Amino acid sequence: AAPGHVTIVEMAPRDGLQNESALVPTTEKIRLVDMLSDCGYERIEVTSFVSPKWVPQMADAAEVMAGIRRRPGTRYAVLTPNMRGLEAALEAGADEVAIFASASETFSQKNINCSIAESIERFLPVAELCREKGILLRGYVSCVVECPYEGAIAPASPARVADLLDDLGCYEISLGDTIGRGTPEAVDAMLAAVLERIPANRLAGHFHDTSGRALDNIAVSLDRGLRVFDGSAGGLGGCPYAPGAAGNVDTLAVNAFVTAKGFATGLDVAKLEQAAAFARTLRTGS
Ligand code: HMG
Ligand code: MG
Repeated sequence: AAPGHVTIVEMAPRDGLQNESALVPTTEKIRLVDMLSDCGYERIEVTSFVSPKWVPQMADAAEVMAGIRRRPGTRYAVLTPNMRGLEAALEAGADEVAIFASASETFSQKNINCSIAESIERFLPVAELCREKGILLRGYVSCVVECPYEGAIAPASPARVADLLDDLGCYEISLGDTIGRGTPEAVDAMLAAVLERIPANRLAGHFHDTSGRALDNIAVSLDRGLRVFDGSAGGLGGCPYAPGAAGNVDTLAVNAFVTAKGFATGLDVAKLEQAAAFARTLRTGS
């Protein structure tokens, strides 16, 4: 029998562009999202409603959301760090929002200016309002294996934070190798710990590809039962608070990799190649 379906969640408009130092025109961002919609994605992460002081590139989040064409069958998701972000996301008609925590205390401070415990407190009203409004809530855990400031992270840490996000009602938790330096051995050990608390069908893999091991990390994740992976058209991306991190694993590479293993993704490769080529033209060399 066929191994089944893999969902690739497209990150280029958000994780892909957030790290670019030169501002990408809003119209180009909208064009990118529209081209990605034509590829047949189930989910696209469009932008972030974060502080423009922290991430100037995402300051046009509302305009991007207002300008995109919505393909029936695609969910348009956004990142929200707090209530202010959620209110703007609701106003913009986001189908899904994502909160983002970290398995590393130092990264949490650098990225969202608070401790892990404080971040969970801050997410509590966000989660409550999402439940009330019937908005899907996704959770990220950053630095699941490596932190740019603390080095190796013990598996118990992401397992604990994933559990906290689960308690908040996240339907899915995306496990981020934020700096793309995780080895398959480390990722496997991390997954073993997380899977003691959260089932594989509610986890996603979010691999940056700095060391070129992202596909190997997807392979161990597939073996552990994960079927959702974040990818970025053209391999764009990085986090402004994770110096030296490369982009998310290239969506086309993920698609080819899982397709070769017999999984179906539902993506149109020819259209994806066009979208990836366009995405690469938006790279300013950050
Ligand atoms: P803060 O400075 O502690 O908070 O930042 P604040 O409440 O004092 O706000 C500072 C200013 O921002 C204020 O403006 C607020 O009004 C404004 P002022 O009064 O000074 O004029 N502000 C906002 N504006 C718009 N939208 C909002 C918002 N919130 C406050 N939602 C805060 C705390 C969390 C806001 C800040 O640290 C922040 O925005 N951080 C976001 C950093 C970020 O976006 N990082 C990249 C995404 S995470 C990632 O890439 C990892 C991931 O890909 C997974 C992986 O790879 O591991 C997801
Ligand atoms: Mg990321």
